[in-house]
Amino acid sequence: MTPTGLPPGEPSRLPPPFEFAPDGIRVDGLGLADLADRFGSPLYVTSALRIRDNVLRLRSALTTRWPNSRILYAIKANSNPAILRILRELGCGADCSSPAEMVFAQAAGFPRRETLYTAAYPSDAELAGAIEAGVAVNLDHPGLLPRLLRAGRPPLLSFRLNPGRSAAGPEGLRFAGRDSKFGSSLASVRQGLEAAHRAGVRDWGIHTMPGSNILAPDHFGRVGDFLGRAIRSLQRVMGRPPTFADAGGGLGVPYRPTETELNLDLAISRLVLGLRSAASPADVQLWMEPGRYLVADSTVLLGTVTDTKPGRPAFVGTDAGMQTLLRPALYGAYHAIYPAGPVRPGTRRRVTVTGPICENTDLLGRDRRLPPLEVGDLLAVATAGAYGYSMASPYNNRPRPAEVLVDGGRARLIRRRETTDDLLCQVPERPDRERG
Ligand SMILES: Cc1ncc(COP(=O)(O)O)c(C=O)c1O
Repeated sequence: MTPTGLPPGEPSRLPPPFEFAPDGIRVDGLGLADLADRFGSPLYVTSALRIRDNVLRLRSALTTRWPNSRILYAIKANSNPAILRILRELGCGADCSSPAEMVFAQAAGFPRRETLYTAAYPSDAELAGAIEAGVAVNLDHPGLLPRLLRAGRPPLLSFRLNPGRSAAGPEGLRFAGRDSKFGSSLASVRQGLEAAHRAGVRDWGIHTMPGSNILAPDHFGRVGDFLGRAIRSLQRVMGRPPTFADAGGGLGVPYRPTETELNLDLAISRLVLGLRSAASPADVQLWMEPGRYLVADSTVLLGTVTDTKPGRPAFVGTDAGMQTLLRPALYGAYHAIYPAGPVRPGTRRRVTVTGPICENTDLLGRDRRLPPLEVGDLLAVATAGAYGYSMASPYNNRPRPAEVLVDGGRARLIRRRETTDDLLCQVPERPDRERG
């Protein structure tokens, strides 16, 4: 049998409609190598079907356990407008963290009532922008309240609670605990809500987001318990239950071959158990704001081998690197890497897959057992749909890649490749014109 790019005995990190075939990886029946020929490399390729499956699975897990629930998609994970429209069509709301994310949310049709603004360390102008947009506002700490109220009163106000204990996980993905820049203690949020109540705020919510990419269901049980405790304490201040309790994002996906999928039903069951001790779906809407879970495994990043260097370690260089996918360089994140086209015969060898950037941290994968690779071969980096393109940059003046959406067996460009001219456009005096 002709080998495929999936190492024998290893679980695939490419879910349907991706499939390994003898002539390479396909998505919805389309060959990734053909897509790279057509749209160029490096290239992000996203399956609309997978996004829809992810949303429907989460929606069903939530509504069977807490019928009054809402998914707010965390736009920071992937803000491509075509992807936002898919999520909106499926009835998701939006979680925004910058003024431009709010603009993208509104352009994609997310209603204000279903949009939450959670900015980290916002300026007065940002706070005023959120008031003007008419969206719910989630404040990091009570010190922001007078600055917000100077601009106006939001239709719904919440505070981000820091439970004091973080989720276990890579350092860059822990958002709670004493050293975290995010959120406030329960005591501090109580003071914030007292001040808000004095200022006439009546509709309120509560929010927490202790970590990202969590595969252990127990974590969500702790989040539910914590939200339950917070509701019991804070509704005395406000004289009524919160309009919503927001459990944040954090639902994890397996990146490594050794990881197992999150047991979503168990995670949501544990979450609502804690919540039920303090609230009921008749009064309180359960919000979750996942980014990664909805889009991460919908997308592969394609990169073409541009150079190889033997040695220990042996290096394989591609046109995709930390400028196209920052996560491995930023927090040592693991992404499975597969040959995207036909597999060359020969022994698999350990190689480090790197990019074209002049940084030693420029890395896609260290110590990977890959079949023989030659210049021109295509590699697929799995699980690249969340915090992939959205963290890409034109560092070293390497223009950002294109993005393609595959839906119903057809592929279309959803973001054109950036050009050197695009980069030059941002410079008031164009250096190429000065010389002449
Ligand atoms: C406030 C907030 N909500 C939601 C998310 C999405 O998290 P995830 O991608 O883990 O679901 C993040 C991620 O950083 C966040 O900071």
